[in-house]
Amino acid sequence: MKFILATHNPGKLREMAAILSQYGVEVVSPADVGITVDVEETGTTFAENAMLKAKAICAAADLPAIADDSGLCVDALNGGPGVYSARYGGEGLDDKGRYTLLLQNMRGQTTRAAHFACAIACAFPNGDELTAEGRCDGTIAFAPMGEGGFGYDPVFFVPEKAKTFGQLTAEEKSAISHRGKALKAFSEKLATYLGK
Ligand code: IMP
Repeated sequence: MKFILATHNPGKLREMAAILSQYGVEVVSPADVGITVDVEETGTTFAENAMLKAKAICAAADLPAIADDSGLCVDALNGGPGVYSARYGGEGLDDKGRYTLLLQNMRGQTTRAAHFACAIACAFPNGDELTAEGRCDGTIAFAPMGEGGFGYDPVFFVPEKAKTFGQLTAEEKSAISHRGKALKAFSEKLATYLGK
C-alpha cells in the first residue's frame, strides 16, 4: 500500500519510511506523485494541524496521506510557543535565534517545565482517519548545550538522561522523543487498521 507523507523534510520522510516499511507500507513524498500543496496551519492544536495537512494531500492525490505537526510547549509561557514553535519571533529568525529568544523570555521565570508534543494524522480516500500523539517532558536549560538535532534541541533538557536533546545521538533521542513515541503509537494503530 502506498502512502504520501505530507512533508518537505527528507529527514522525516526517511525516518517514517524506515518504520512503516515493516508493515509493507511504502511512503512517498508529494513531489514523487507530482503534487505541491501548501497547507496553511490554521489549527489551534497539533492534532488539528496534522489532520488539516493529511486531508489536503489525500484529497489532492487520491491516496492515503500521513502528516505530522509538533512543537515545544513551555509552562511558564502558557504553553507557548506551541503550534507557533516554527514561527516564534517572526520570519527573520533561524533555529539559534528562536532558542535564544526563548532563553531571554525565560529569564526570571521560577518554573522551567516544558514538553515537546507531536501529533500524527492519516487520512484515507474513503474518509477513514487515524491519529496518534506523543510527548516528552523536560525543562528549559539555562544555556544551550550540544550540537545534535535541530530546532530547540540544545535548550531542551531531559532530567532522566541529564542531557539536552542536543547532546543525545539520533537513536537516543528517537527512543524517548515526542516524535518517536507518536510514530510508534501510529505504527501500531496502522498495523491494526491494515490487518482488518
Ligand atoms: P513541524 O512539526 O515541522 O511544523 O515543526 C515545528 C517546530 O517545532 C520546528 O520547527 C521546531 O522549531 C520545533 N520542534 C519540533 N520537534 C522538535 C524536536 O524534536 N527538536 C527541536 N525542535 C523541535
